[in-house]
Amino acid sequence: MNKSDLSKIIEVGLLLSSERNLEKLFDKILKTSREVANADAGSLYIKKAHQLEFISSQNETLEKRFKIDGNRLFKPFPLALTRENIAGYVCLTGEILKIKDVYHLPKDTPYSFFKSFDNRFEYRSKSMLVLPLTDRDGHVIGVLQLINAKDENGETVSFHDNAVKALSTLASFAAISLKNAMLSQNVKDAHLSTIYRLVNAAEYRDPDTAYHLERMSNYSRIIAEQLGYDDEFLEVLLYASPMHDIGKLGTPDRILLKPGRLTVDERSIMEKHTIIGADILKNPDNDLISMGRSIAMTHHERWDGKGYPEGIKGEEIPIEGRISALADVFDALSVKRVYKEAWPLEKVVALIREERGQQFCPYVVDAFFKGYEEIQQVYSKFKE
Ligand code: C2E
Ligand code: SIN
Ligand code: SIN
Ligand code: FE
Repeated sequence: MNKSDLSKIIEVGLLLSSERNLEKLFDKILKTSREVANADAGSLYIKKAHQLEFISSQNETLEKRFKIDGNRLFKPFPLALTRENIAGYVCLTGEILKIKDVYHLPKDTPYSFFKSFDNRFEYRSKSMLVLPLTDRDGHVIGVLQLINAKDENGETVSFHDNAVKALSTLASFAAISLKNAMLSQNVKDAHLSTIYRLVNAAEYRDPDTAYHLERMSNYSRIIAEQLGYDDEFLEVLLYASPMHDIGKLGTPDRILLKPGRLTVDERSIMEKHTIIGADILKNPDNDLISMGRSIAMTHHERWDGKGYPEGIKGEEIPIEGRISALADVFDALSVKRVYKEAWPLEKVVALIREERGQQFCPYVVDAFFKGYEEIQQVYSKFKE
């Protein structure tokens, strides 16, 4: 490996090791390794118990042809972890494979190439470089597969020996970064699941609202992303928004679970859930609790100042309160509650449009519509 290759690899290693977001890490690993090997396409597999999961792919030719990113061509899918397929073979043996033409493998080759992807997309996979992603303990945690090396003229050629060397160094950086990111993702998932469970238990909800927190917090995150907030804000918001109704812990069941409409007195007791929530989360000692408190306090304020508990208006309402207000109402209307049936989505959307600049912050409503496709995906995923 020459000096400039080496410094490139170190640069890439540093880039990878600082990425904690798994999706972005998958993208960076594929992008940088394709660059180093000048490969048209690449796929990443992660070993999970007794399977190999295909998790991410990029394919320049098909991305140009269909004008979409590689991961839209293909959803993650599990692959049998056996020596009969190429990725499985590399995962189980730890060998690096450099293949000239996968359509013409020598007769005694223990693995085969499956043409189903190629047939489906009219793609011709030819040269391949497949590397194990090996962690520091020598365990293979995944497989990196690069397809169709290109020469200066864009012709498909075999992978160069230099690329094999550079890529095997890069693969070890990638493996370490992946392992770290997966560990921290596990901790985050456990953390979020703990928050959902605690808040659900605390609020003692009826089963109607089992996935309310999952949906509502994801809607909030999507809206904030469309507003252009950074990853750190999105993450804190995702974790803090499930706490919005924590104050319902102090609302009597006869009110919370009442099948019909609330009387004026019942309504004023119910409205206290905002202040009770802010009180439960008082003296915040970290950003998460601090944002949770702010959301608990302000998620029923209205842009026009006619909300509760304080009747503050416009930008006096913190952005996390304006976002969670919309996410909360979208969810309350689009699914069944003890006191009401689910509304059809068209009706919910019409109300949100009508309340732009009245109940809801106008930019938040615009961001909601920009992210509406993703919002519908969350809605379908957690449909009860
Ligand atoms: P929730 O069920 O999560 O509803 C959250 C918010 O969604 C409501 O805040 C309201 O802004 C909106 N929303 C829900 N249903 C409707 C609807 O039919 N039409 C319209 N335009 N908006 C709707 P709100 O009103 O401050 O209520 C806060 C919480 O108080 C509700 O949370 C629910 O737990 C309780 N609640 C409100 N009204 C009733 C009711 O009539 N009966 C019962 N049993 N509980 C109610
Ligand atoms: C409160 O918790 O009593 C209100 C303080 C606030 O506006 O956040
Ligand atoms: C909620 O999910 O915010 C409250 C609805 C209920 O308890 O019925
Ligand atoms: Fe609430």
